[in-house]
Amino acid sequence: MNNFSSAPLTPTEAGRTVVRAQHLTKRFQEGRLDVTVLRDLSLTVNAGETVAIVGASGSGKSTLLHILGGLDKPTSGEAALNGANWAGMGAAAQSQWRNKHLGFVYQFHHLLPEFSALDNVAMPLWIRRADAAQSNATAAAMLRKVGLGERLHHRPSELSGGERQRVAVARALVTQPSCVLADEPTGNLDRTSAQTVFQLMLDLAAEQHTALVVVTHDAALAQQCQRRYGLVGGVLSAA
Ligand SMILES: Nc1ncnc2c1ncn2[C@@H]1O[C@H](COP(=O)(O)OP(=O)(O)O)[C@@H](O)[C@H]1O
Ligand SMILES: [Mg+2]
Repeated sequence: MNNFSSAPLTPTEAGRTVVRAQHLTKRFQEGRLDVTVLRDLSLTVNAGETVAIVGASGSGKSTLLHILGGLDKPTSGEAALNGANWAGMGAAAQSQWRNKHLGFVYQFHHLLPEFSALDNVAMPLWIRRADAAQSNATAAAMLRKVGLGERLHHRPSELSGGERQRVAVARALVTQPSCVLADEPTGNLDRTSAQTVFQLMLDLAAEQHTALVVVTHDAALAQQCQRRYGLVGGVLSAA
């Protein structure tokens, strides 16, 4: 089902670092609770690369993605996106940077229930104050790419689980971000829908030269990424 073309990368784009995490440590301390989840973890992802992170429940996968996306702070170490360190930005600048350069896909779609598929996908463009008609046209084109051209005006409750995740994928990629962070994006789907959704993410990421960092339990899906790591004991090891 691959009808996506990908233009060749220029050498600078191909080698450009998008995600850089250095010596991340994350420790949660609250009352009697004291857990160190990440230990001196470093990771670099270049433009267009696909990286899978596999780990048991509670191993720190979501914590790592939150830090990479500037949604949580490391206890020590630094995380940067497109050369800008999250710690060096205020909250408003972080939000803007995320809207400009990042897309997120979660296990549960996190679509806004009162809005149509089209509106959900157009929203990241509206937030940029892009022209409304142009935003809607771009969002509709994205939904057609994920096979939902006939579902533009359906609300999330009127879609199947796999269709909702396809809307979430369209929303994550509609701004042509440098990177998509996906946290168990197919964890809630049956095998066939999971493969369809995963393939769409890979195809769209390749088409747009978007880097993809995907956390998954599913070894068969991880196998389809260029690089794979296990997250064990707070450390990444090549898998
Ligand atoms: N806000 C928090 N406060 C305290 N502990 C947390 C918090 N967030 C996560 N943890 C702990 O960190 C560990 C890793 O969590 P998480 O990153 O969600 O793992 P995963 O996504 O791999 O299942 C878990 O033991 C969890 O209980
Ligand atoms: Mg998690």
